[in-house]
Amino acid sequence: MANDSKKFQDIISHCKEYGFIFPSSEIYDGLQAVYDYGQWGSELKKNIKDYWWKSMTQLQENIVGIDAAIFMHPTTWKASGHVDNFNDPMIDNKDSKKRYRVDHLIEAHAEQMVANNRQDEADGLIAEMEKLLAKDDFPGLKKLIETYNIKCGISGTSNWTDVRQFNLMFSTEFGSSSSSEEGDNIVYLRPETAQGIFVNFLNVQKTGRMKIPFGIAQIGKAFRNEIVARQFIFRMREFEQMEMQFFIRPGTQKEWYEHWKQERLKWHLSLGTDSKNYRFHDHIKLAHYADAACDIEFDFPIGFKELEGIHSRTDFDLKNHQEFSKKKMQYFDNDIDPATGKAYGNYIPFVIETSIGLDRMFLSVISNAYEEQDLSTPEKQDSRVVLKLPPRLAPIKMAVLPLVKKDGLPEIARQIIDDCKSHFHCFFEEKDTIGKRYRRMDAIGTPFCVTVDQQTKEDSTVTIRHRDSMQQERIAIADLKRIVLEAISGTTTNTSNFLITN
Ligand code: GAP
Repeated sequence: MANDSKKFQDIISHCKEYGFIFPSSEIYDGLQAVYDYGQWGSELKKNIKDYWWKSMTQLQENIVGIDAAIFMHPTTWKASGHVDNFNDPMIDNKDSKKRYRVDHLIEAHAEQMVANNRQDEADGLIAEMEKLLAKDDFPGLKKLIETYNIKCGISGTSNWTDVRQFNLMFSTEFGSSSSSEEGDNIVYLRPETAQGIFVNFLNVQKTGRMKIPFGIAQIGKAFRNEIVARQFIFRMREFEQMEMQFFIRPGTQKEWYEHWKQERLKWHLSLGTDSKNYRFHDHIKLAHYADAACDIEFDFPIGFKELEGIHSRTDFDLKNHQEFSKKKMQYFDNDIDPATGKAYGNYIPFVIETSIGLDRMFLSVISNAYEEQDLSTPEKQDSRVVLKLPPRLAPIKMAVLPLVKKDGLPEIARQIIDDCKSHFHCFFEEKDTIGKRYRRMDAIGTPFCVTVDQQTKEDSTVTIRHRDSMQQERIAIADLKRIVLEAISGTTTNTSNFLITN
């Protein structure tokens, strides 16, 4: 998908119109880069979360999940390096007073160059920027901005300040400020969930009798004071992460890093998205904790961008927590090292991390699913917007629609729902024409619409309509639950095996 800003805007409008995502506190004109998930958005988000959680815990013998608090002891963030290093180079435009993240400013300029068929120049600019970022060469970055005559989108001028660092953590005060010395009651809203896992490493290892290699997974909110946050839910100030820290023997990090790169890509592909939408991007500038890192990038309507990070975090975090807390963070490995013939003994484990933004995953799913279709025939103009969501992620799995509001049809529809609702999310609707009701269900990605009509009363059959093909089939009510459950579990997406012939 090339940079398709119209499609991006259409998806944003669709999310609002159909109850997926609203700007936060919209009646007060919203809060920049903060969003609320509506009735269908929260269902879709929860289904993504459940799918990740199940594949990372239930389906893994050696990974368990936790749910740590958002507030953590402030020393956590000293030890993790976030107080000193969680910065982004920023530059301000003196005329508009607008602050930009330097890499975003340069990337936006490169994207314009690509749009103007200057791909080679754009590649050169990005390569140069990455070199300078890797060296923290701030004067060099400013010079690059000047050389390419990059202007502020608001003032239109290139009247820039020097490039400076800006910490991305939000802080607040804990407890009563009058009872504390100035500054000693500052706590941070966690900028990543990972540290909740590191500080609980020994608790989980000991109480769960976990043996290396093993993992700890977590889903939870994270907060970053992002400066440029204009890309809908791609870059938010409050967002959710799904992270897993995999604890391994030192020296095995390369093989486990490769393992998790492939495993995570497989997970994305398991949702049926075309593999051409994904690519790996190796980091040149490594985060302060990593000895290798890459992103799984997804082809969003705003171009290929980071969806998930795979990081080889060495023993950086556990070692630092040991140093700052003065508590041992070691693991005793009684397996025999073939090189020495003795037990591996005590060591601080190394860590491979997989870290995906839930909101970004949501955006990738909905961008991939969104389709505007022209269904016009010579006789009639027609179109629809359909979300081709994987059935397991769809907010509603089955809508049951009585053809008319009378003759006992609504009662039969409600009976079908009563039989199925404890297994999957159903929806009843009797208002408007059946065509309009189908369109509404298409727009929120409901894979199956079931219509109850007069024939239902005679032979206990209904029509089932498939969202993607719009084909309809007559099937027995008794087969419905099985058909939908098989589609949700991914066994099948069509009902041809269950066709009944009169
Ligand atoms: N614990 C490692 C870590 O947090 P990261 O690359 O900074 O690494 C991991 O973030 C993932 O979190 C990203 O790949 C992205 O999906 C998501 N993410 C990061 N910042 C985000 C933001 N401001 N809004 C939405 N998602 C974000």
